[in-house]
Amino acid sequence: MLSRLSVGAFKTAANLRASRSSSLLSAARSAPVRLASTSSASSASSESLVNSRATLASLSLFTAGTIAWYTHLYGTLPFLGEVHAGNLGDDGLHPPQYPWPHKGPFDTFDHASIRRGYQVYREVCAACHSLNRIAWRNLVGVSHTVDEVKAMAEQVEYTDGPNDQGEMYQRPGKLADYLPAPYPNEEAARASNGGALPPDLSLIIKARHGGADYVFSLLTGYMDPPAGVEVREGLNYNPYFPGGAIAMARLLFDGIVEYDDGTPATTSQMAKDVVEFLNWAAEPEHDERKKYGIKAVIILSALTLLSVYVKRFKWSPVKNRKILYSPPVDKTH
Ligand code: HEC
Repeated sequence: MLSRLSVGAFKTAANLRASRSSSLLSAARSAPVRLASTSSASSASSESLVNSRATLASLSLFTAGTIAWYTHLYGTLPFLGEVHAGNLGDDGLHPPQYPWPHKGPFDTFDHASIRRGYQVYREVCAACHSLNRIAWRNLVGVSHTVDEVKAMAEQVEYTDGPNDQGEMYQRPGKLADYLPAPYPNEEAARASNGGALPPDLSLIIKARHGGADYVFSLLTGYMDPPAGVEVREGLNYNPYFPGGAIAMARLLFDGIVEYDDGTPATTSQMAKDVVEFLNWAAEPEHDERKKYGIKAVIILSALTLLSVYVKRFKWSPVKNRKILYSPPVDKTH
């Protein structure tokens, strides 16, 4: 009732506007009322066109006809085929999350594990995979002592030169040399591995979705293909590898490595150690980074607290002051 009344009042106000007797307020209010009435009148015909059954029926017929005509011409509908090709196996099985020793915010790498992992890399993986970004000197103080690393480097021959006669010569490795690669170039690597390229492992932990969890799962995840899955000659079934068929065969079997520290070399132990080693290779700054991170958090939070205190201290006279107005006393009264 109220609203009706007010609309009526607005209309009267609008009519009265011509005579300029209406107030400013009612003139402003009359505008929306008039707009609404004009727009509803003009859209009535278009609304009936959209809502009418004939329009709906002809649109549906048109859509069905277009689809029928398209399938008649081309056999399939676009996009639908791609929807059906989607297969979880194409993305690889998602690896579980493992409790790595270095996972927590205060945890460092397990350096005994890095040392064992280096041994697994050298004795197993280095036959096919390079580790281009790691130099011998990087191992010093991480997994081995200087003397150990020097001795290991000297066992490898490096080409150096040219000498005074302009010839290249061979010399034993030194700390500054990078770890030797198994193949001279990519073509040689592919030729020896049935066309597949064993990737450089320096950054593999960072380069794969799932990181350390993925590589561990990959190394320990080999199994017989499930019924109905055909794996091409030369490939191996591994559910964690995207697509399921990987050119690298299973390499880690219990006892293929003999650890110096007496740790039993089971498949999972070796996989864990080599992944820990590769994780270090991908993030050599990891331990330092966490140490500096903790220092930064402690120092910065202390400084923050200090600055909050100083701010409150300096502002307290300003915040606590009281401004009083004492009106002049009228003494004549
Ligand atoms: C006999 C040669 C050979 C050895 C030994 C070998 N690999 Fe491989 N590796 C390959 C080949 C070939 C590929 C490429 C596979 C492909 O693309 O299908 C590969 C791929 C990989 C990949 C990448 C998988 C991906 O997601 O692309 C990782 C990680 C890996 N190997 C780790 C290792 C580790 C760790 C070892 C040592 C325990 C090792 N490999 C030993 C041949 C080898």
